[in-house]
Amino acid sequence: MSDNQQVLIDSLPQGKLEAGHFRLHAAPMPIPGDGEVLVKTIAFAITAGTRAGLQGSASYAGAPKAGIVMNSTGVGEVVQSNAADVAVGTHVMAPTGWQQFSVHKEKDVSAIPAEHDPIHYLGPLGVNGLTAYFGLLEVGSPQPGETLMVSAAAGSVGHLVGQIGRIKGNRVVGVCGSDAKGAVLVTELGFDAAVNYKDDGFRQSLKEATPDGVDVYFDNTGGAILGAALFRMNVGGRIACCGVVSQYDTDRPEPGPKGIPGLLINKRINMRGFLVFDYASQYDAARQELHGWLQSGELKCLTDDVRGLEAAPDAFVDLLGGGNIGTRVVRLD
Ligand SMILES: NC(=O)c1ccc[n+]([C@@H]2O[C@H](COP(=O)([O-])OP(=O)(O)OC[C@H]3O[C@@H](n4cnc5c(N)ncnc54)[C@H](OP(=O)(O)O)[C@@H]3O)[C@@H](O)[C@H]2O)c1
Repeated sequence: MSDNQQVLIDSLPQGKLEAGHFRLHAAPMPIPGDGEVLVKTIAFAITAGTRAGLQGSASYAGAPKAGIVMNSTGVGEVVQSNAADVAVGTHVMAPTGWQQFSVHKEKDVSAIPAEHDPIHYLGPLGVNGLTAYFGLLEVGSPQPGETLMVSAAAGSVGHLVGQIGRIKGNRVVGVCGSDAKGAVLVTELGFDAAVNYKDDGFRQSLKEATPDGVDVYFDNTGGAILGAALFRMNVGGRIACCGVVSQYDTDRPEPGPKGIPGLLINKRINMRGFLVFDYASQYDAARQELHGWLQSGELKCLTDDVRGLEAAPDAFVDLLGGGNIGTRVVRLD
């Protein structure tokens, strides 16, 4: 049988990630055992959180190590099945990693309904969509008419957060790293304003974009943007701490911003971290609502496609530098 092409972590990054930290590898085709399925990858997502995994700062990912297949959520087709309830030909979401074929226990794959686009399970109906949904609605608790600010707003999680906020009646302000991204947020996704954090006048622009202050801040970045957000928060505001992408691509993450805990106390701000897995028991209901918004056109999903396994390392480095708009997807089909 033919080989299984993979991308392995060749060495762990010290400092910034480079494509050279990965290498292509041809492994023997994996064989499913009892209760297992063989999945042929259609596509996988490249996400910022996996950089935290390589840094060793993602508790759920465990200690990073070299010599293994780079991890990611993927979607694929079951091509061989020894599992009673998963038929050959079923589309599934699974932790495929960066490789053509992977073997999974039945409990580790989620069947994708035939009428759904599998690629949506890397974005709005997958981990990042559920993160946007629960982080905003359960942690941020946005009320109609309130101002929502979101960072990494043109990224996979961020562009969905802003749109869900808009659907829920918020005034939505996105923070991102270029004016071109900001224009997409406002003209294509219905954000009320966008601010470029790389501009010298970022703090002043943020102030002008949030004349009534900020009630909910969905924080994907930490760092200087969190620092600026703290000073725009209203009394009783909520900060949903989703991720710290500004501090992932380094071995020297900066300490947190000034103003904690003083500003939290004076403004009675609720600042709370969350992991999407906390809400696993509610995924089905969330997916139904998200799918309804996709069907009605209220929620748009942007994907940023890359082709071929060998393109994945450069695509990951580029994502950390802000090269993506929406969910970066590597397609193998
Ligand atoms: N809590 C959870 O359960 C959970 C689950 C999934 C994801 N997450 C988190 O969600 C966040 C977004 O992940 P994603 O997969 O959707 O990635 P993404 O937003 O699609 O991509 C990362 C983006 O981060 C921005 N960025 C890079 N360096 C930055 C810096 N120094 N300061 C500010 N922005 C910077 C870049 O956009 P710009 O052009 O705007 O710089 C880049 O496009 C991450 O922090 C991730 O860890 C959390």
